[in-house]
Amino acid sequence: MISLECEPWLWNAIVQHLTTKTGLSCDCLGALNIRRSIVHRMKVTQTRTVANYWFQLQQQGGEWQAFLDEVVVPETSFFRDRVPFQCLAEWAQAQTQTLNDRKLKILSLPCSTGEEPYSIALTLLGAGLSLEQFEIDAIDLSDRALGIARSGRYAIQASGSLWERVADYWSYQDQCLQMSPEVMQTIDFRLGNVMDWTIQSIPAIDSNYDVIFCRNLLIYFDPETRQKVLQGFDRCLDKTGLLFVGHAETGSLLRDRWSMFPFPYAFAYQKSISPTPNSVAKPHIKSPLKSPLKSKIQNPKSKIKSNVTSSESTESTIDLPIATDLLKRSRELADASKLEEALDCCEHYLKRQPLCGEGYFLMGQICQAIGSLAESDRYLAKAVYLMPDHEEALMLLALLRESQGDVASAQGLRQRLLRSR
Ligand SMILES: C[S@@+](CC[C@H](N)C(=O)[O-])C[C@H]1O[C@@H](n2cnc3c(N)ncnc32)[C@H](O)[C@@H]1O
Repeated sequence: MISLECEPWLWNAIVQHLTTKTGLSCDCLGALNIRRSIVHRMKVTQTRTVANYWFQLQQQGGEWQAFLDEVVVPETSFFRDRVPFQCLAEWAQAQTQTLNDRKLKILSLPCSTGEEPYSIALTLLGAGLSLEQFEIDAIDLSDRALGIARSGRYAIQASGSLWERVADYWSYQDQCLQMSPEVMQTIDFRLGNVMDWTIQSIPAIDSNYDVIFCRNLLIYFDPETRQKVLQGFDRCLDKTGLLFVGHAETGSLLRDRWSMFPFPYAFAYQKSISPTPNSVAKPHIKSPLKSPLKSKIQNPKSKIKSNVTSSESTESTIDLPIATDLLKRSRELADASKLEEALDCCEHYLKRQPLCGEGYFLMGQICQAIGSLAESDRYLAKAVYLMPDHEEALMLLALLRESQGDVASAQGLRQRLLRSR
């Protein structure tokens, strides 16, 4: 019979140990998730008291790793968010002219069960690179997730032109998708902890990476840990390389250190280069934005009309009569990086549905993607006003406020996020 009765200090000690070792905070992992993981592991190891389990966790041996495997959130998917992979394909194509015999070095951290690094490999092959032109280091804290990654086997149905273009590199076996041995050999899966990046020397990793994917991990960290991890990436990313983060993580990137790469919705960044009289930083690929939006990016407020404060009408270029279609259409446009049209479409939608939180949430995301942060803040604030429990909106607004130095407000939003779970 398991007893979960324990002194609060014991509970705090386990949570604190987890945060110190991995950077994962209780706020973001969720107290329930941590408790569930402890109970599960206590059952498996037939440990009766939390005190005994805490003792086991501190011993050398497999229990710490087994606990980590249980508590982490390994959610991932192939070509997650799509646009970052389109951006990678165009960027890599542009690099091939200057690669010569050199390989592109890519880091996927955290790689979870492998879908992200395999998507990177398939993207590069689809973009015309050969197997010899790149290598990928794929790192994660979870041994269990890495086991799945190393098998290269997934119970999914692959469909669509992207998969067909790289059909030589995967097959179906026993109703599972199996990556080919050639693709698997381009990836080195390793157990590792991103907290190693927070110290000056980086054990086992001395690379100059051309591309780093660190998506959907920074959101679990407190602001100080996020900055330390980003400083680590700063050290091991090539000066012209790309850092991809998750869409809710862009607020962590300090503007004086990182500049947004001009590929909307890719959430890719480069190290900021201070311009000298003879040097002007140029993007590696042509921006997919059409010229009117470029001018909006240079002067983001020039055309954005705030539905929060104004109800002026704009000229309509959209011929979609049903309001819900407009919201759906603006999401599709935003996903396809057509931000100017997405913005127009969503503005029209909000004129018809001025109380729809999802509309304001989308406007907030679009404005953030084009760098109009004050507008983004206003739309997101309206979204969380209308949808007080909307986790993504709360998180995005908290990160945005944090990046603007409004720590108190960000903390308040994080508390609300916690209460909404
Ligand atoms: C939500 S998944 C993200 C996977 C992938 N990057 C994506 O966006 O689809 C988060 C992963 O982070 C890993 N993780 C958590 N803390 C870590 C740490 N300190 N170092 C390395 N990986 C960590 C977890 O094991 C989990 O597999």
